[in-house]
Amino acid sequence: MTSLGSFPINTVVQGDCIEHLKALPDNSADLIFADPPYNLQLSGDLYRPNQTKVDGVDDAWDKFDSVTAYDQFTEAWLRECLRVLKPTGSFWVIGTYHNIYRVGAIMQNLGFWFLNDVVWVKTNPMPNFKGTRFNNAHETLIWASKSKASRYTFHYHSMKTMNDDLQMRSDWLIPICQGEERIRVNGEKAHSTQKPAELLYRIIISTSNPGDLVLDPFMGSGTTGAVAKRLGRRFLGFEREPFYVSVATERIAKVKPLEAPLLEYRTEKKKPRVPFGNLIEKGYVRIGEPLYSRDRKVQALVKADASLVWNEECGSIHRISALALGKENNNGWSYWYVGREGRLQSIDELRHEYESKYLKRPKEYSTELDFSSQVVKEPEPSFLGDE
Ligand SMILES: C[S@@+](CC[C@H](N)C(=O)[O-])C[C@H]1O[C@@H](n2cnc3c(N)ncnc32)[C@H](O)[C@@H]1O
Repeated sequence: MTSLGSFPINTVVQGDCIEHLKALPDNSADLIFADPPYNLQLSGDLYRPNQTKVDGVDDAWDKFDSVTAYDQFTEAWLRECLRVLKPTGSFWVIGTYHNIYRVGAIMQNLGFWFLNDVVWVKTNPMPNFKGTRFNNAHETLIWASKSKASRYTFHYHSMKTMNDDLQMRSDWLIPICQGEERIRVNGEKAHSTQKPAELLYRIIISTSNPGDLVLDPFMGSGTTGAVAKRLGRRFLGFEREPFYVSVATERIAKVKPLEAPLLEYRTEKKKPRVPFGNLIEKGYVRIGEPLYSRDRKVQALVKADASLVWNEECGSIHRISALALGKENNNGWSYWYVGREGRLQSIDELRHEYESKYLKRPKEYSTELDFSSQVVKEPEPSFLGDE
């Protein structure tokens, strides 16, 4: 696939994300990361004790006429993201105390299913110069799926390996973007809220697979695109400001993707294999019914031996999909659909339904905590004493 809707894949497209999201097909993104405007509502300049001006977020893109206008904007782009997210996909949004609670409430109203909130603890936060509040040293991420029933990707074992064989926790200690990583144009910061690449690295590596499509409606300086490309994912970004589009495009062009063998998830336990024939035996797919390609242009007939007949050819779901695409190999699970209740349903979804009904849940999707290889210490008695 080289485009999504009318947008070429692996590009940053200039324009309003709500308009652009509306042009994307249903269920088409594997991972969406969104870093929307914060609606900081800053008034007046802020100075350090040495009278130098603090480089805060006072950009035009962060200004809204009212909180209601911000909520309406938020609901509009979130609604489209929910539609565009695959049932197997992951949605991530980041924000500060100014906006994340509003964003989260709207997400829950729309039907997103929350999986975690993650705190990005900034190891080098900007101080509170006025000394009137706590040092604001974190941002909050929400990780959600399309619905409660979603079979989302989570590389649990790889995350544990990354964390020296301890379960990866929901507080991530990562420095703010600085030094070489900070994109500059004529010596000035190119973007006031460039996110650290490590943050996107952890999100993309934990909740997507190589080849997946990563969508970012607010691409800014291109952090999501750069990390997605490095990790062998496809990406699409939207960004309203032409200057940021060119900054991001230039930045991403310099990134070299890692080679495929380096991106394999060898520590993950394999999912149980459900052959296509099992779906026929249990009646999930009916003998004699047609399977369709997503655009319905290709149609093949299911035979009793689980083979497909297409034109004069007969073979497995994989072989016939490859022939239809003019390729040597193809994964038939992601190619074929059946007609159900007036719409197309992916046979991969049927496979997941079969798995959850007839096979034991694989460990990597388990919501139960696995403490087997960890030493869990009892909490220290608090200084308040235990009552
Ligand atoms: C918080 S920044 C994203 C920063 C980005 N994550 C990075 O690492 O550089 C939000 C971005 O959204 C863009 N933006 C704001 N409203 C938009 C809209 N309606 N459509 C597309 N982009 C928008 C802004 O221009 C800004 O670059």
